[in-house]
Formats: sequence, structure tokens, C-alpha cells
Amino acid sequence: MPEMGTGAGSETEEMLLDAARRVRANAYAPYSGFHVGAALIDETGAVYVGCNVENAAYPEGFCAEAGAIGAMVAGGGKRIVAIAAVGGTDEIVPCTPCGGCRQRILEFADKNTQIILVGDKGAIDCLTIDELLPSAFTLK
Ligand code: THU
Repeated sequence: MPEMGTGAGSETEEMLLDAARRVRANAYAPYSGFHVGAALIDETGAVYVGCNVENAAYPEGFCAEAGAIGAMVAGGGKRIVAIAAVGGTDEIVPCTPCGGCRQRILEFADKNTQIILVGDKGAIDCLTIDELLPSAFTLK
């Protein structure tokens, strides 16, 4: 299990933020103009990235977090140790995951999973899935 430091500034956190910022540059968001990058580290230390990919048929677009989680599952990862998402505008600081992505993160998270959110101007927040999705739906 990879070690996460506590709070902002740990080496893993910086690495994830850097990966999320880099993949954000590849976001395909011609309809919203809202570019998001996400990077996560799994229980083996593997890192996966995703960006939002929109579509002319609007509901077919998907979020950056969904892309990163899909890549993790395809790569054999089982648990999200930490996930960072970078996105936002001057008005939205930082960008927090949509409802669907909160549920997607929950599927592979535990109470220690760090969810690191960064805005366009660098504002940073670090939350747990319990904070982002209280009273969540599960089948257990
Ligand atoms: N989006 C993400 O990729 N992640 C989020 O956490 C919030 C929203 C995308 C979806 C859409 O392409 C654009 O941002 C505007 O909603």
C-alpha cells in the first residue's frame, strides 16, 4: 500500500497534482470549455490519469474522474488510495466531482482515500468520500 503523507504538499500528492495538470491539457471540452484532469494512485502504486471527453450528443461525454477510474480497473487496480482532480474557472474554485463521479469514487474508495481537489488558480481542498457523499447508496 503506497504511503500518503498528511495534508497538502506530500510527495505523492504533488506527483498526482502534476499528472492531473498535465492530462488536463488533453481534455476535449469544446462544448463547455471546462477542462478537467484527474490522476489517481491505486493500492499497488500504479498511477492512472483521465480527462473529460465531451461529445456532440451531450450526455455521451464523460468526466475526467470516470476516465481515470476506468483506466485503473482496466489496468487491474482495485482500490483508490488517492485521487486528484484539477479543473475550474475563476468562479468555481476548486472544481468538486459531480454526483455521478462521487458514486464512482465511492465504489473503489475507503475512509482513508484522499480526494484532492484543485482549482484553476491553485486553491486546494482535501476531502474524504464520507465528506463528499454522506449517506451514500451501497448494496451492503
Ligand atoms: N467535469 C469533469 O470532468 N469532472 C468533474 O469533476 C466535474 C465536471 C466535466 C464534465 C463536462 O465535460 C465539463 O466538466 C463541464 O461539466
